[in-house]
Amino acid sequence: DMYFYGTFPEDFTWGVSSSAYQIEGGWDADGKGPSIWDTFTHVPGNVNNNENGDIACDSYNKVEEDIYMLRALGVKNYRFSLSWPRIFPTGRNNSINSHGGLNYYERLIDALLAANIVPQVTLYHWDLPQALQDVGGWENDTVVQRFKEYAEVLFQRLGDKVKFWITLNEPYNTAYLGYGTGTAAPGISFRPGHAPYVVGHNLLKAHAEAWHLYNETFRARQGGLISITINSDWGEPRNPHSQEDVEAARRLMQFFLGWFAHPIFKNGDYNEVMKRRIRERSLAQGLSKSRLPEFTESEKQRIKGTYDFFGLNHYTTVLTYNQNYPKGVMSYDSDRGVATVTDRSWLSSGSLWLKVAPFGFRKILRWIKEEYNNPPIYVTENGVSERGAFEFNDTWRMHYYRTYINEALKAVVLDGVDLRGYTAWSLMDNLEWAAGYEEKFGLYHVNFSDPALPRRPKASAKYYSQIINCNGFPD
Ligand code: NOJ
Repeated sequence: DMYFYGTFPEDFTWGVSSSAYQIEGGWDADGKGPSIWDTFTHVPGNVNNNENGDIACDSYNKVEEDIYMLRALGVKNYRFSLSWPRIFPTGRNNSINSHGGLNYYERLIDALLAANIVPQVTLYHWDLPQALQDVGGWENDTVVQRFKEYAEVLFQRLGDKVKFWITLNEPYNTAYLGYGTGTAAPGISFRPGHAPYVVGHNLLKAHAEAWHLYNETFRARQGGLISITINSDWGEPRNPHSQEDVEAARRLMQFFLGWFAHPIFKNGDYNEVMKRRIRERSLAQGLSKSRLPEFTESEKQRIKGTYDFFGLNHYTTVLTYNQNYPKGVMSYDSDRGVATVTDRSWLSSGSLWLKVAPFGFRKILRWIKEEYNNPPIYVTENGVSERGAFEFNDTWRMHYYRTYINEALKAVVLDGVDLRGYTAWSLMDNLEWAAGYEEKFGLYHVNFSDPALPRRPKASAKYYSQIINCNGFPD
């Protein structure tokens, strides 16, 4: 597609993102409790090279260094997450760790504000307190109340300074990778046709409770925004002239983005595509009802409309076609019934799942606009990885940001998408979950073999700061 000249709206916000477990280290420092990711990474075989986040980028001890990078980039906002077990070591509000937990985040937030950088705070980026996992984690609906109590303390303690909250990061991954494939913590995979849906159900309720708490009790005084970050690939039919492939693309979108977006941004309930497919397969399997749980009427009312913006994490596109699974197979994948491939012409990255297909970015933004009645959108993550021999001149990352951000600009200018901000993933190289430190998404390189963990800008850091400075692509 053609390169498009122009700039973003004047108040467009540019930022970078990170998450607690991926950068902080200090895994047992100053009273922090273990999270499910501490447990998961400490089991040999779960993570590439048996790596873990015990030290990571040591951001727990490097607030100054991190702020320095953010200033050099010239970002207007920094999206980071809070470690729940750093603040509630046992997952309960009867044991708040003020000293090591909240103090660390207060220092970070104060330093950001002093540098004129807006903190965008994610409450949950996958590191559940292990103590809550011990009673069933996201499968146990008492987690909804626990999450609400956690959110309340944060609104109380940090809400005068934080005006942009994200309840959950990528609930899809918590449900599907954590409880479906088992490739993310807690690594549960033995009921792949049940557990992800139960978990998704509780995630939606937890989000809604935190949103209502803020909306009804804190918003009037604190005046901030609160919403959720939903991730999705773009699904493009492999053959646009095949009705079957077109339907597969629709299923991909509704099972991926729509799983969480439809209840929140539409009617409080799951979309019809998911409801019908999962119900039909469940009944054919001899079950008396659908494996997808149902919301009561009052739960639907409680979930519907619990957003102030649409937080989107987007990286890549897949080509879709129909895939039939044997009737008896119970899993998210077989319910969805979609096979995916990628186009040979798309550039690859350091991550198998990530191919460079910028056109899908514009399409998914437009899809959100059309499907959910034009909500304000913040892209809360977008970026690309490399692996193997390291090269500071990361031309592939500059190419990725140039082409993806250019598609976002087209979405704004040509399609009328209400895009308010863009946040790159990631500030610096970090623990890419089960892929370990080998897959690097950073604008800054971190030398993990040097105990001082020095950060150094890649060429793309300079390039991104120019985009920010120009607010796009002036001619
Ligand atoms: C999604 C996640 O939110 C983030 O933690 C992860 O590192 C990036 N995408 C890249 O995979």
